[in-house]
Amino acid sequence: MSEEKIVNVKPGLEGVVADTTKVSKVMPEINSLVYKGYPVQDLAENCSFEEVAFLLWNGELPNKDELAQFVEKEKKYRNVSDDLLEVIKRFPKNAHPMDTVRTGVSFLGMEDERVWDNSTPTNKDKALKLLAAIPTIIAADYRCRKGHDIIPPRQDLSISENFFHMCFGEVPDKEVVKAFDVSLILYAEHGFNASTFSSRVITSTMSDMYSAVTGAIGALKGPLHGGANEQVMHTLKEIDDPKKAKQWMLDAISVKKKVMGFGHRVYRKGDSRVPTMKKYAQGLGKIKGETKWQEISDILEATMVEEKGIHPNLDFPAGPAYYLMGFDIDMFTPIFVMARVTGWTAHIIEQTENNRIIRPLCQYIGENERKVTSLSDR
Ligand code: COA
Repeated sequence: MSEEKIVNVKPGLEGVVADTTKVSKVMPEINSLVYKGYPVQDLAENCSFEEVAFLLWNGELPNKDELAQFVEKEKKYRNVSDDLLEVIKRFPKNAHPMDTVRTGVSFLGMEDERVWDNSTPTNKDKALKLLAAIPTIIAADYRCRKGHDIIPPRQDLSISENFFHMCFGEVPDKEVVKAFDVSLILYAEHGFNASTFSSRVITSTMSDMYSAVTGAIGALKGPLHGGANEQVMHTLKEIDDPKKAKQWMLDAISVKKKVMGFGHRVYRKGDSRVPTMKKYAQGLGKIKGETKWQEISDILEATMVEEKGIHPNLDFPAGPAYYLMGFDIDMFTPIFVMARVTGWTAHIIEQTENNRIIRPLCQYIGENERKVTSLSDR
């Protein structure tokens, strides 16, 4: 093996500042996250997901006219082509919905004749198409897997309302819709997380937005990133009884198990988005008359914080919230995609406007240079 000294290697790029951004600021020291200067918890309480999408792409919250125009165009983009619907119908029925939405987005890219046009106006328009069409793809695939007819999008509903409509054929109470909308706002953007960074790497080669979002979905799928919200619910269901929760966590800690929904690379003292999502998850528990998940969650959190000082991240309250809304567990990370596509595309636009190919170095630790022998001598 090479005997070169290892210098300045940052595994996991921890602590590395890879570029500047105007999209969002994560402030772990004061436990805060702002999008374009606005604290995310204020956006969640006072704005719709559509307003936040507009903000991330345009830098300002929309006025009434701007929002009306934005929403009108978004609604027109909700329908996907018959060709794409045919492809969705042929997806393997046991495929994970993250794989199907990844392929659906890739298909959208093949259909868009402007695929190589990376100018900002076209990229904003592509981002709007992705925002509008991704929920349609996820819901259509969900219906097909269940053996049900696809429900077309409605034009008179918000993104959140329409998603419930396309999945279940009905729109729930406004408190449930608000909780879902809040989750989309909280999930929308988070600096140079793994999937966003992946999208910026792909963009930096001057590839196109659809390719970058397709790659980002692949990164988000992993349980150390977006996939954690699904694992949280599997854990809660495995425990199932609040009386068993403390011992479960103590056992997990004693065998150094990574407990999904806890920990964060950037936040060490708690995730700024958790209190807002937890409040809405608690509200859903009351509305649905099912408080067990919250009780188990509270015990897990208290035990983990007391024993290890590790706090929950957004996936921890989001998982049971989606479950209470009626979504299958494997839908949780695709819902994250519906939200994070706003942040990804804001970063793709920013990267494109001030691009330099992202190409870090690595330190070689393999074999020293040696002579090639011919096949007969090996
Ligand atoms: N459960 C148990 N211990 C955890 C933990 C968790 N979820 N997250 C971190 N730790 C512990 C590690 O074991 C390590 O302890 P050690 O120093 O005794 O070995 C320490 O905390 C630091 O963890 P590390 O894995 O180095 O942190 P990271 O910054 O590389 O990883 C995450 C960050 C998010 C990938 C990691 O916390 C994790 O895997 N969490 C679970 C998955 C998850 O919820 N992901 C969603 C993130 S939003």
